[in-house]
Parts: sequence; structure tokens; C-alpha cells
Amino acid sequence: MKRIINGSLVSEDWPLVVGGMLATISPLIRAAGISNPEAEARLLVSVALEWPLEQVWLHVEEPICRRDQKRIIEFLHRRLAHEPFAYISGKQEFWSQEYLVGKGCLIPRSDSECLIETALEILPRDKINTSVLDLGTGSGCLLLSLLSERPPLWGVGADISSKALEYAKHNAANLRLSDRALFIRSDWGSCLNFGFDLVVCNPPYVEAGEVSALMPEVAHYEPVVALSGGRDGLACYRLLADQLPDLLANDGKVCLEIGLGQASSVTDIFSKSGLQQRGEKKDLSGVTRCLVFSL
Ligand SMILES: C[S@@+](CC[C@H](N)C(=O)[O-])C[C@H]1O[C@@H](n2cnc3c(N)ncnc32)[C@H](O)[C@@H]1O
Repeated sequence: MKRIINGSLVSEDWPLVVGGMLATISPLIRAAGISNPEAEARLLVSVALEWPLEQVWLHVEEPICRRDQKRIIEFLHRRLAHEPFAYISGKQEFWSQEYLVGKGCLIPRSDSECLIETALEILPRDKINTSVLDLGTGSGCLLLSLLSERPPLWGVGADISSKALEYAKHNAANLRLSDRALFIRSDWGSCLNFGFDLVVCNPPYVEAGEVSALMPEVAHYEPVVALSGGRDGLACYRLLADQLPDLLANDGKVCLEIGLGQASSVTDIFSKSGLQQRGEKKDLSGVTRCLVFSL
């Protein structure tokens, strides 16, 4: 049914109906050590055929033309090499909105929605012209989620990665938020001279020596600059603690994502810059994921 030449799957006599295709590719996905192979197979077929997922469930007898078959096999190759599904489909959902993502841009994580919940609780509702700064904006998911929840808000997303900023600008345009979001290339806040009402930040916080041990989807594909927090994982927090006091308006607050077990170290680092911890929030796994600070 399928042959492997030079490590490549060759489309010879591949099944030409959806059900047969799913039955053929699921075991290959399983053999690559990827969990939930049946679900992954359905997702892959739905993206390749540009069908909603329900259609894949319901139309197992539907024929697949040669062109679509080739596309499925190309996507399968990429997935078997552990490329993240979001880079293959080119999109990821965050806070119920769709974000374009690709190489050079961190895939938004559902854990980071904890920052949005916290920010919405502390953002002043009555103040007009409220401003938000998103440091290390990546896809723009944090800033754009807040802007879409609170129409009077405006904000700036800063990142050192030009590639990530391209995605953020596309996402702002797709979500019709470009008129309230400015994206700039900056080494954290060094290019900014303004006091914001709220700063949100999900900095890289993995210990440098641990990055290569992360799952291959992350270690081999996602940008190191978005993952590595230096030798002890805390390097970016130190840089941020130096800059943040000058980036806050009176009564301004910081909502910061942290990694597992980093709460007390980050609180110590920030208190040396005069930033006091005012709150914290756990993610859905019960891990303290978000800390709130102000001067
Ligand atoms: C963990 S990712 C967070 C991305 C996005 N905010 C999110 O939550 O999905 C960290 C981001 O910080 C950016 N970054 C790393 N070093 C930076 C620096 N020195 N200045 C500005 N941004 C930086 C990376 O490019 C990356 O987009």
C-alpha cells in the first residue's frame, strides 16, 4: 500500500477514501511516538482537505483526489518529523480567537490564558484611555485578547524578533484591532519612554540547559529566543525588573507569567527593584502561573 524510499513515504496505492486514509496514517503517527494518533490523523486530514473536523468524522466514504492525497502525505511527513501541528495548519486558538503562527513565532499556550483572566480582573474599567504594554508579544495573543475584551484599551506589543512581529501585525489586522495596537521591535522596553497602566509579559523562562530536553515539537521547531531564560531560567526577569519601574503609570500594574516553582525567586528579584507582589493566579493544572506586581 505504501513504500518508503530514502526515508520518504511514497504515495503509491494510498487509500482514496477518508476512512481508509485515517486507518493507514494513524498507525504511522502512533509509531512516531505521537500521542492520540487517531485524533491527530483526523486533524491532519481535516486541515489538508480544508474540511471542518466534523466532516472528517461523518464522511469516511468520501473519495480523496490525488492532489489532496499528496497534500495529506506532505503534512503527514512533517508531523512524523514532530513539526508542531499548529505550524502545519498555520494557526492556533487562544482565548477563543484564531492566531496565525509559523516558524519564528511561539505557539500560544492555553496556560497563558491565566494572564488574560488576571489582567481583566485588575484592569480599571472606568478609566478612559487605558494603555497596555505586552513585552515579548510573539503572536500578539496577550495584547490582542485584552484589546478585543475591552474596546477602550489601546496598546503596544514589543518583541526582539522581527518574524514574530510580522505574525503579530497580521493577527491584529485579521482581528480588526490594528487601529488600537502598535507593534515595535525592541529589546524588552528599551525603545519605550511611556508609563503604561498595565504591562503583561510572558518571558522565556526555561533553563538554557533544559531547552534541548523539551519535547521535539518544542525543542526542534520553536524559537530558542522565545524559550531560553538563561542559565537558571531567570535572566529575563532580572532584565525586566530593571526596566519595569520606568514603564509603569501611577497605579500601573504588571501581570507576569512564570514557570513551575519560580514564584519566590521572581518575587525576590522584583522586590529589589521596588516592585511588590500584589497577587497570584494558578493555571488549570494548579500551578502558580501568573504574578501581579506594582510599585
Ligand atoms: C514565551 S514567548 C511569549 C510570546 C507570547 N507573548 C505568548 O504568550 O505566546 C517570549 C517572547 O519574548 C520575545 N523575546 C525574547 N527576548 C526578548 C528581548 N530581549 N526583547 C523583547 N522580546 C524578547 C521572544 O521573541 C518571544 O516572542
